[in-house]
Amino acid sequence: MKNLLLEIRASIAYVTVNRPDKLNALNFEILDELDRVFTDLTTNSEVRGIILTGMGDKAFVAGADINQFLTIPADEGKPFSENGQRVFQLIEMCPKPVIAAINGYALGGGCELALACHMRVLSEHAQLGQPEVNLGIVPGYGGTQRLTHLVGRGKALEWMVTADMISAQEALKWGLANHVVPHSELIATCEKILNKVKQKPPIAVTEVINATAAYFDNTINGYDAEATAFARCTATKDFREGATAFIEKRKPIFKGE
Ligand code: COA
Repeated sequence: MKNLLLEIRASIAYVTVNRPDKLNALNFEILDELDRVFTDLTTNSEVRGIILTGMGDKAFVAGADINQFLTIPADEGKPFSENGQRVFQLIEMCPKPVIAAINGYALGGGCELALACHMRVLSEHAQLGQPEVNLGIVPGYGGTQRLTHLVGRGKALEWMVTADMISAQEALKWGLANHVVPHSELIATCEKILNKVKQKPPIAVTEVINATAAYFDNTINGYDAEATAFARCTATKDFREGATAFIEKRKPIFKGE
């Protein structure tokens, strides 16, 4: 891949957008590469969690590539938006936890990419924002929906119509950030979360993600999705092991079955 780095260490996949000279702006190639990488990681049984970040300490992703915007024919705005939405939904539906390690600017499509991840850990100097109105457009990769779900309509609208930058502390206050940490601790904080997840039964972890995702899809009854996820778990050996280990006062041994 030209613009993404992928490394797998100790069951964690590290995906880095590597275009620092353009502040990791998302061009068509990067979208395609994200599509491919997340498709592969979905079925890679070696991987238990994913950390997505940007190269350098200035930007996570400073938006969709504005130069490429100008190549979109006037009548092709919708497929352009739908393609980005599809790739970001693939990330949102990834069966393993995906953490955005936000190392700097996460603007426009970069903020939307972070919103599609399951969790967000921010460096103290990170700044988020949906400044698309400055360019005469709306967020087109799911931002209007996910930001509104996360922080509520009033604040989401304020940020989107003013194009204000959101500081890390403000993101924390509004529930956009799981944690804000010194830059030097960013990746270690994400690893700490995923190392805890690695101790848990993988099927239950995936089913938590599935049931939670139903909340973001208004074509699905979330309670029904939860009951279905619960039923899939009660049929696993790991469920028997977890409950038995509790009663026998010992540590469970989960096998992902
Ligand atoms: N698309 C394409 N190129 C981008 C980009 C984007 N979204 N964001 C930054 N770049 C490029 C700049 O054009 C510049 O390239 P150049 O050196 O060839 O001129 C390079 O990345 C560095 O950016 P620069 O603007 O010089 O850095 P800065 O520190 O002065 O400002 C930002 C940083 C993030 C405030 C500024 O780059 C910016 O506003 N970017 C656009 C943010 C945006 O509107 N995103 C939403 C798009 S939907």
